[in-house]
Amino acid sequence: MSSTSTTQPPPALLHAAALIEKELEKRVQDIDLPPNLKKAAHHAVLGGGKRVRPSLTLLCCEAVGGEANDALSAATAVEFVHCFSLVHDDLPALDDDAIRRGLPTLHIKAGEAMAVLAGDLLLAMAFEQIVADGSPDGRSAALTRLLTNATIHTVIGQVYDTVGGFPAHLDAEGQLDLMHRNKTGSLIQAACEMGAVCGSATESDKNAITAFGRAAGLMFQIVDDLIDIDGCPDLVGKAVGKDADMGKLTFPGVVGDKASRDAIETLRRVAADAIKSLNNRGEDLKTVTEWMAQRTH
Ligand code: IPE
Ligand code: IPE
Ligand code: MG
Ligand code: MG
Repeated sequence: MSSTSTTQPPPALLHAAALIEKELEKRVQDIDLPPNLKKAAHHAVLGGGKRVRPSLTLLCCEAVGGEANDALSAATAVEFVHCFSLVHDDLPALDDDAIRRGLPTLHIKAGEAMAVLAGDLLLAMAFEQIVADGSPDGRSAALTRLLTNATIHTVIGQVYDTVGGFPAHLDAEGQLDLMHRNKTGSLIQAACEMGAVCGSATESDKNAITAFGRAAGLMFQIVDDLIDIDGCPDLVGKAVGKDADMGKLTFPGVVGDKASRDAIETLRRVAADAIKSLNNRGEDLKTVTEWMAQRTH
């Protein structure tokens, strides 16, 4: 990866992301809020995000035999949780970042109080989205369980990242694995599993998607760690070089660049192998995973 070469998202991801964008816009448009809070929600959610997690929800639903539309609501909920986590991640008390998705972060634009509160709002909107969907067969309960669990693990990961408190027996690599799997891997895995639920997956397809999401989720954050070193800020849409400046625990920081790239390749292969049993239905997921491994922003 280098700042001079870029990779474009594959059509399957762009198509899924466009569906998500429209649904997010509708949700933010429709909710009754005071204008300042509405403006904040709009800023935090719309425009600029790659929509990787909700697109995985749609693609996993299709990969197990469902239709993208069946998973649109769950996917939107996943992206609301992600947007909440970004708004809070950027706050001065956490990463203290001024740019996100190429724009001023919400606390820079609207103040810290609004950023904290808008983050709270997005989290509630995520769960409202699942309940409002009124899906059949206890599906809402399964989706709520998955998203709740992932949100808890995201927060746990953010505590490790920001405050510490790792189990005493872990070495640096063990800490890293635990932190990344929680702060980023958990939501990506849940995004995939929620897609499988929406597509009424068989038990064996569900297991395939879980293994896929677990590998892809960890891989995503290792790539993000490398982009923080190599990425071009204009393309990435956020500051780079921050992890080293802040003394963050990262893959390249602990195991070096080469071992980080090797770990990405291993995880890419684990993810691809996991969905082999889905045959042609898993093709789009495989292509998106290849892009996730190579992305430069
Ligand atoms: C950024 O996620 C935060 C991480 C967990 C690495 P993305 O790279 O998916 O951010 P957006 O949604 O595209 O802005
Ligand atoms: C973000 O991780 C993880 C969550 C928001 C849960 P980072 O702090 O490493 O990601 P960026 O670089 O700010 O996007
Ligand atoms: Mg962070
Ligand atoms: Mg951050």
